[in-house]
Amino acid sequence: MFFETSTRTQASFELAGKRLGADVINLLMQASSIRKGETLIDTALTLNAMHPDLLVVRHPSSGAADLLAQKVNCSVINAGDGHHEHPTQALLDALTIRRRKGRLQRLIIAICGDIAHSRVARSNILLLGKTENRIRLIGPATLMPSKIDEWGVEVYDDMTDGLKEADVVMMLRLQKERMDGGFIPSEREYFYRYGLDLTKLSHAKDDAIVMHPGPMNRGIEIDGAIADDINHSVIEEQVEMGVAIRMAIMHLLTQSQDHSDPPLA
Ligand code: NCD
Repeated sequence: MFFETSTRTQASFELAGKRLGADVINLLMQASSIRKGETLIDTALTLNAMHPDLLVVRHPSSGAADLLAQKVNCSVINAGDGHHEHPTQALLDALTIRRRKGRLQRLIIAICGDIAHSRVARSNILLLGKTENRIRLIGPATLMPSKIDEWGVEVYDDMTDGLKEADVVMMLRLQKERMDGGFIPSEREYFYRYGLDLTKLSHAKDDAIVMHPGPMNRGIEIDGAIADDINHSVIEEQVEMGVAIRMAIMHLLTQSQDHSDPPLA
């Protein structure tokens, strides 16, 4: 159930399900009964009556997946809820980092850009923070969440300082659809200060990897040449790992389900 547009996430969940032999139904929520006024809960209960094994939900409101999970019998996978969380993205990012760096500990990980509106940043901070990494957030003060000092991370407003000796550089898209005012002076100015180019990247470790969850805005948060640079960019590998991680999650969740018939009355 995708209530927000998606390319990578939706396609990889669909492919993951199909590779596991599932019957996958892709609901385009913009075209569904939601348009006719049905509530999120009623739509979910209707689908629940068809006894799915899993529901995959993306929604613009934080907490939507959790709310649905309380109303249906099957497992619900959060494919992104507002600016709150995007757990499968964090898992695929962690898998990509582990493959490239050989470990998930003692790394300096810089997450850069629009932290305030990013569910990818929140889920990555939670996951990568569990395994003794140093997490740095880099971005203008206007794009930092309030109470950032309680997150247990280092905060920088300058790329040169923040990228020093970084092992992993994770760039984020400016989430314009979640902004209701002027958070940056202009896109040109933003690229000048926070867009990842060769000069800024030279402050990170020589073998630093560059990540981006997509969709990318070349020339705004990242220079196109870096995004395509096979010596640093692991952006395509992230997409590839997305299918593997989602297959693993679907497999685990359906394995643990009890498919035995209910006892006869
Ligand atoms: C991210 C998302 O939707 O939160 N993209 C994704 O899932 N691959 C990041 C974004 O939209 O910028």
